[in-house]
Amino acid sequence: MQRRELHRLALAWALSAWAVAAPAQAAGRRPGAGPQWQADPFALGVASGQPRADSVVLWTRLLIAEADAAQQSQTQTVVCEVFADEALRQPVRQWQVETDARRGHSVHVIASGLQPSSFYWYRFVCGSATSPVGRTRTSPREGDKVALLRLAQASCQHFEQGWYVAHREMAQRELDFVLFLGDYIYESSNPKYRLRPHLGGVPQTLDEYRARHAQYKGDADLRACHAAHPWVMTWDDHEVVNDYANDQDNRYSDPQVFLRRRAAAYQAYFEHMPLRLGPDAAQPQRMRIHDRMAWGQLAELWTLDCRQYRSHQACPDPNRGGARVVVGCDALQDPSRSMLGAEQEAWLMPGLVGSTRRWKILAQSTQMSSSGVATPLGRSSFNDAWDGYPRARERLLSGIAEAGLQDVLVLGGDVHMNVAAQLRVRPNDERSPIVASEIVCTSVTSRGMGEALLASIRENNPDILHARSDERGYALLELRPEGVQASFRATPFPAKSDSVLREQARCLVQAGRAGVHRA
Ligand SMILES: [Fe+2]
Repeated sequence: MQRRELHRLALAWALSAWAVAAPAQAAGRRPGAGPQWQADPFALGVASGQPRADSVVLWTRLLIAEADAAQQSQTQTVVCEVFADEALRQPVRQWQVETDARRGHSVHVIASGLQPSSFYWYRFVCGSATSPVGRTRTSPREGDKVALLRLAQASCQHFEQGWYVAHREMAQRELDFVLFLGDYIYESSNPKYRLRPHLGGVPQTLDEYRARHAQYKGDADLRACHAAHPWVMTWDDHEVVNDYANDQDNRYSDPQVFLRRRAAAYQAYFEHMPLRLGPDAAQPQRMRIHDRMAWGQLAELWTLDCRQYRSHQACPDPNRGGARVVVGCDALQDPSRSMLGAEQEAWLMPGLVGSTRRWKILAQSTQMSSSGVATPLGRSSFNDAWDGYPRARERLLSGIAEAGLQDVLVLGGDVHMNVAAQLRVRPNDERSPIVASEIVCTSVTSRGMGEALLASIRENNPDILHARSDERGYALLELRPEGVQASFRATPFPAKSDSVLREQARCLVQAGRAGVHRA
């Protein structure tokens, strides 16, 4: 066992001291004992995530209303009940968990001892209150043959900019899990598109980030999508602040000041998500989110962290940091620049090149294919996406090419457009073989770039097979041993609460042959 893994186990153990208590029967507690609530403390709903063959994370957070203010300072006892059937007649196990204000009254139960490839229903009880019922599932065993994996790939859900009709549809579908690739909340506002305003200003403190997450979870469609499926997640920048990179924000704040803000944002994120690990107890500005999961012999999936460890953006504006389009930026070619950080790269590559599963899925935040355009001064690069880290991209894709892998699928979000693209070691160079296939999902609500710019990106990047930024939605992926089908589900009307998604385009990837094709 590597040191990192030991460290991770130690962290998991430290967290389990408060996250997971003994089964409730052993503690002799009855559900129903405890506070008599005036307002529903389960208004944020329930969620599950990070499925394994024998366990899944079950989440809720008590939201304590003014009417129950006396409960705010109390340690609350919450019972989590797991059932094998929708009618809740077949109890499987229950856990009793204590939570308090230091963790925002959040509850994370690692429900273990479960059967592989099985559905479970769960709910939480605290005093007189009972939560809505959620449905979740476990993954197949690592060695199992699996005929089909269905997942919904989503990202970028600015609350102000539209309704969560994508979540409404995802909640209704038969899926194995939802793969959410970042920008779950937005810290900022754009007055141009404000259907339903954020409460409060730009969050800086833990309480402000908590309030922002709570407002997002106030959306019934989002809660329904969490209750319907386990989620597998990574984050992007807006969970903290637009365009941050490692310890640097877009205002060049003192890194020590920014890292305190990042710690607050990470803590609030953990408190609202079905995640196994929270912030590192010794260094709360650090939180491990990158993870690896197998879906039987069919797929292996790595969720990557493209924010916490990355090199700062190259050639930034000295007055306003963060993302920008750069031309003639020599610093891009510095081989020491990294999107994932050296440690995460070193963790990823051996597992990826050694994987014996059919589909190797890199689930990460942004677009990997190039989107530069020709200008009179040379080709442009958007320095916040993988174009801003070309040598790191080349390392990753060369590693895939040298290992002879054919079935690598890169999934991304962030850019508010649907993209299907070929990935080559040398982007857009036909002499450089295609080594992987890319699917980027459009945003759930956040508005996309204008058509003129997108037309120029398409024209300058023959590797891009499909790109549309005018519609909102998600991507529905069906993975089978013989191929992958990606359907871009979308609507041009995110501002209409009753809009319905339809298929914008469908793409295929054939097993044994890297590259994406139109259906
Ligand atoms: Fe976004």
